[in-house]
Amino acid sequence: MDALAAIRSRRSISRLVAPAPSGAELRTILEAAACAPDHGCLRPWRFVVLAGSAKDAFGPVLADATVADYRDRGLEPDPRKVDKDRTKMDRAPLVVAVVCAYQPSEKIPAEDQYAAVVAAAQNACLAATALGYGSMWRTGPNATNVHVKRALGLSSDDAIVAFLYIGTVAPERAKGHNVGSLDGLVTTWEPPA
Ligand SMILES: Cc1cc2nc3c(=O)[nH]c(=O)nc-3n(C[C@H](O)[C@H](O)[C@H](O)COP(=O)(O)O)c2cc1C
Repeated sequence: MDALAAIRSRRSISRLVAPAPSGAELRTILEAAACAPDHGCLRPWRFVVLAGSAKDAFGPVLADATVADYRDRGLEPDPRKVDKDRTKMDRAPLVVAVVCAYQPSEKIPAEDQYAAVVAAAQNACLAATALGYGSMWRTGPNATNVHVKRALGLSSDDAIVAFLYIGTVAPERAKGHNVGSLDGLVTTWEPPA
């Protein structure tokens, strides 16, 4: 699949099924991510792979982290949200947390490092598409929850840029191509008269 075909056919698929990408395919996906433009070549991206029984075990970890976050804020946990977290990992056979580990730099601002990791996450989605897999980029409260970061082995200063859900698209879940409408979004600058 060429690059434009992958870009146009990538859609967010909320439920993905087995098979997941093979180990070699996952490596291709993550190497594509690591090809992203990267101001200062700081390599701020990190990837935490959740696969197989470890992925399944992460659902209850998410639920516990959500309970801990509610308690940190002096609130009673919302049981519906906690239950939802417990089953979130069932939505795909493979999940990759794409993380920005900010690198010390006097020259490269944090927002450029975050932007590089966003580009890496999109490269991963496009590579998955090119290999014939579906994906979905998710964030939500889990992405900023320090208990989730800790469970993934991250520092509280790291940013979880994406939870990428990756797997096979069941025929009934397939979506049409993206249109990428530009209506009202493009201007062409001219120098002042
Ligand atoms: C930074 C980012 C965070 C996102 N987080 C979520 C999310 O938490 N839940 C969700 O349902 N979709 C999430 N999405 C996916 C968007 O909802 C999706 O891309 C959008 O609906 C357009 O659909 P498409 O990807 O099929 O074009 C996220 C996308 C991005 C770029």
